[in-house]
Amino acid sequence: MDNWEELESACKECKKCALNETRTNVVIGVGNRDSEVLFIGEGPGESEDLKGEPFVGRAGKLLDDMLQIIGLDRNRNIYIANIVKCRPPKNRDPSNEEREACSGWLNAQYALISPKIVVCLGRIAAEAIIGAGFKITRDHGKWHDINGVKTMALFHPAALLRDPNRRPETFVDLKELERVIKSECTRTL
Ligand code: URA
Repeated sequence: MDNWEELESACKECKKCALNETRTNVVIGVGNRDSEVLFIGEGPGESEDLKGEPFVGRAGKLLDDMLQIIGLDRNRNIYIANIVKCRPPKNRDPSNEEREACSGWLNAQYALISPKIVVCLGRIAAEAIIGAGFKITRDHGKWHDINGVKTMALFHPAALLRDPNRRPETFVDLKELERVIKSECTRTL
């Protein structure tokens, strides 16, 4: 994929898995394509499927608040994508086949952005990007070198809505992310 236009027009037509039969919109991503920081969620929910943009429901509002704590803005200095681009019915976890079928699109997004830092939102994204042995309760906020890219995971904002007791740990993780962005990135903060 040589450019975003090519990626977006091909991705919108994707029929690599059965999720294409139930989707309203393909949710490709949002944000600054020249950003140095890539956030990766799990997959679209109902609001995202309807709007065609990641993280626009309640969890998205919390994500925006989390980003604001460290001076990040989804439209200005980061890019947000998902592991799967189409909504799994009833918000079930995406299957291994669906994740595998969709992986080429995320790989193409990596190649176009060439991120210095990747932040996985929640267990599903962290398992897919960091590895199957990842445990979100144990490994959140820790840095991993994934093909030369500094990669960490935060609790998913939907998990933080369900369990606000995790918020203080997430604040610490966000401050760590801010520290590394300030030392590694030249155009972000
Ligand atoms: N949850 C996700 O992981 N991604 C979205 O885009 C919305 C909710």
